[in-house]
Amino acid sequence: MTVDDVDAAAAILAQVKLYPKSDANKRIAFYVQLPNSCCLVAEIGPDVVGIVLSIFNGFHMFLTHIGVLESQRGRGIGSTLHAELLDRANQLGARGIVVDAIFSAEPFFRKLGYRSPGATFLIHDAK
Ligand SMILES: CC(C)(COP(=O)(O)OP(=O)(O)OC[C@H]1O[C@@H](n2cnc3c(N)ncnc32)[C@H](O)[C@@H]1OP(=O)(O)O)[C@@H](O)C(=O)NCCC(=O)NCCS
Repeated sequence: MTVDDVDAAAAILAQVKLYPKSDANKRIAFYVQLPNSCCLVAEIGPDVVGIVLSIFNGFHMFLTHIGVLESQRGRGIGSTLHAELLDRANQLGARGIVVDAIFSAEPFFRKLGYRSPGATFLIHDAK
């Protein structure tokens, strides 16, 4: 993904209800230019139809967002994006990919081979 894809990526995050469009552009633009980020798009012709945003911290790849346009789901786009991400994670020597998924997406990740870790996921609100 390049900065040229930021608008399309933000539109996808908004459509899949992972992030409001108003705020997503600047956050994705920030994410894409981070040196350890791995942000990929799936394209059909000139159109961006899916995205994955992730970042490598030296230990694990953290997959924070993945989304495929509703009209294009169930055609293997999400798993293709994930397969490419896994390749990149392996090339970087990552120990694994960690995902914080919304509950409705858990079956998708289980199909890809994800397991529950022996750890808990906690969050502290900022501001
Ligand atoms: C999750 C998502 C990215 C999957 O994309 P996709 O392109 O439809 O996925 P694929 O076509 O590669 O599906 C791979 C397999 O997972 C299954 N699958 C996909 N989404 C699923 C879901 N929500 N629940 C159950 N199974 C699902 C598919 O049926 C397919 O199974 P098969 O191999 O037996 O045919 C897409 O549904 C999406 O954008 N959802 C909204 C955003 C979201 O929830 N993102 C994840 C949280 S960060």
